[in-house]
Order: sequence, then C-alpha cells, then structure tokens
Amino acid sequence: MSKKIFSGVQPTGNLHLGNYIGAIKNFVDLQNNKDNNCIFCVVDLHAITVMQDPTELKNNIRETAAAFIASGIDPKNSIIFNQSLVPAHSEGSWILGCIARMGWLNRMTQFKEKAGKDKEKASVGLYIYPILMASDILLYDATHVPVGDDQKQHLELCRDIAQKFNNEYKCPDLLRPPEPLIQKNFSRIMSLKDGTKKMSKSDIAEGSRINLTDTEDQIINKIKKAKTDNDILPGNEEGLKGRPEAENLMGIYSSLSNQNIVDTLNEFEGKNFSDLKKKLSEIIVTKLSPISKEIQKLLSDKNYIDQILVDGAAKAEDISSKKVKKIKEIVGF
Ligand code: AMP
Ligand code: TRP
Repeated sequence: MSKKIFSGVQPTGNLHLGNYIGAIKNFVDLQNNKDNNCIFCVVDLHAITVMQDPTELKNNIRETAAAFIASGIDPKNSIIFNQSLVPAHSEGSWILGCIARMGWLNRMTQFKEKAGKDKEKASVGLYIYPILMASDILLYDATHVPVGDDQKQHLELCRDIAQKFNNEYKCPDLLRPPEPLIQKNFSRIMSLKDGTKKMSKSDIAEGSRINLTDTEDQIINKIKKAKTDNDILPGNEEGLKGRPEAENLMGIYSSLSNQNIVDTLNEFEGKNFSDLKKKLSEIIVTKLSPISKEIQKLLSDKNYIDQILVDGAAKAEDISSKKVKKIKEIVGF
C-alpha cells in the first residue's frame, strides 16, 4: 500500500545528531521507498509558541530546510515547505480547535513539561499547539506520521479530533486518523555529558551534543570529551544495563553504520572506550561532514532555499486548500 507520510520539525536552531538519527535519517529512508508520498514541513507556526528572535527564526527556517535537503530529502520527490506560507494550516486549526475538548488538552504531558511550574505565564499557543499539529496532518490525509516517542500523545489526540469531527458532522471518511511511525531502535539519543538525559538543542552545554553544522575538529573533540565509565565494553545487551554512556555511544555507532546493536557489541567486546570513540568519531565525521558542508553551501544561496520553500508551499497549498474547503462546507460556512 502506498503511504502518505507527513512530518514536521520546528525551526528553533541547533539541529543535532539526535534530530538526525531520530527524525531526519528516517525521513530520507521513507522518501527513498518509491511507494511513499512524503511531505516534510518546517513548522514555523509551532516555533513561535515560545518567543523567537525574528531574524534568528528566519535563518533557522532556512537552516532546517537546508538540513532536510543536505541529508538527502529531494525536493523533486518530496514536498518541503514552511507552514506559515500555507494558510490552510491556521484555518484548519481554528475549526479543529472547536472540536477538541479542554479535557483532552489538559492531559498533554508536553505542555505540562514545557510550561513548567508557572502555567499561567505560558502562551495560549503553546497550549493549543497539538491542535495545529492535528491540522497539519489531517489536511493532507496523511496515513503515517514519523515522530519521536515524545509526540505519540499528540498523535493520539489527532486521531481523537479526526474521529470526533467525523462523528459530529456525520462524514465518516472526511478526516483520516493517522498511524504513528515510531522508531524502535535509537529513538532517543542521549547527551554526551550525561547518558540519562536526552541530547537537546536547549542544553546549555555545547559539548552535550553534536550539531549538524559542527566542523570535523569540533566533532572529534566532543567525542573525545564525551562521558564514559571505567569498565571495558561489554559483548551483550545485558552488559549495557546500568551503563547509559556505553549504551548511547554504541547506539549512535550502530545507527550511523546501519548495523544492529548485536554486531556493534561483537565488534567492541572487551575493548576500551578509546577504541569505540576513535571509530565513532570516524563514522560521525564520514556521515555528518558532507551534510554539514552541503548545509553551508545551500545557506550561501538564500534565494535557492527560499525558492524551494515557495515551490513546496504551492504544492502543499494545492492539496490543503481543497481539504479545508470541504471542511468549511461540512461545517456550514
Ligand atoms: P525537536 O527538535 O524537539 O523539535 O525534534 C525534532 C525531531 O527530532 C522530533 O521527531 C524528535 O522526536 C527528534 N529528536 C529530538 N531530539 C532527539 C533525541 N535526542 N534523540 C532522538 N530523536 C530526537
Ligand atoms: N510537534 C512536533 C515536534 O515537536 C513537530 C510537528 C508539528 C509535527 N506538526 C507536525 C510532527 C505534524 C509530525 C506531524 O517534534
């Protein structure tokens, strides 16, 4: 069956190895299956749920699009665009917001985490963020949505909104509840400074993550300084228990060399972290340096990137404006 894939990444800067392994690398694999139709969106409307510097936001939109393309997403095969260029996302979001219930949103754990202790000071946008995400997905009849584990609850909400809309308005086939595609392996790449914490763009310690724009020397240095423990490396998965740094570094190595963890364990059994780090730096440099160079090259021609986004938006508009028109008719407008 051909799949309609939709996913989004926020242009909030510092794209890192976790984003690459957990999201973008999968997007490329999905696109390379000729049976799939893929749409990848730079979700700039989602980004402003937390205040962004306007100049930086503009740069980050281009950088995210450049990272998609440099990693192998081909604008000839997939639609790449930024959300704010396509008005149907906001229009759909309003209507779906009248279907979603407060009680549903109140259960969203990501809002609770992001809003922190002082919920009263969080933006309303941050609260209704999952409704906009549902609009993104439902406007394209996406069948499958590749996301990280943290987005699973938002996808369940999207399914609930689709079903309630279809029921209330007696249009059983209008909105299609999507299936999540959540990676089983390596879905959480951890900080290089603490194997129990997720690698994150907002970590103040630069050394905790490898950025997609890092130079060879920066990569080598960060891996050299990555946290380890004092044991030699184990030969089976059991031996990784309680050793988050070993698990993380071996996981990154496995993912980038496209081999399963058992093969990696066999390769490094009884060796020191220094042996693993040497091979790990090599593979990260081999995989990321071409991407990093291509991002820089793409960013040096802003018009080229902007044109890709505008062309992608025209294709996205074509699909989503028709869907939003049907939704409006059904609602009675
Ligand atoms: P974010 O940067 O949080 O907007 O995430 C963009 C995409 O990258 C989402 O699909 C996340 O699930 C994924 N992602 C972010 N951080 C990590 C990580 N440390 N490990 C694996 N995937 C991640
Ligand atoms: N909320 C997602 C994240 O933070 C980004 C996103 C927005 C998204 N709209 C989407 C992901 C639609 C998948 C489908 O990672």
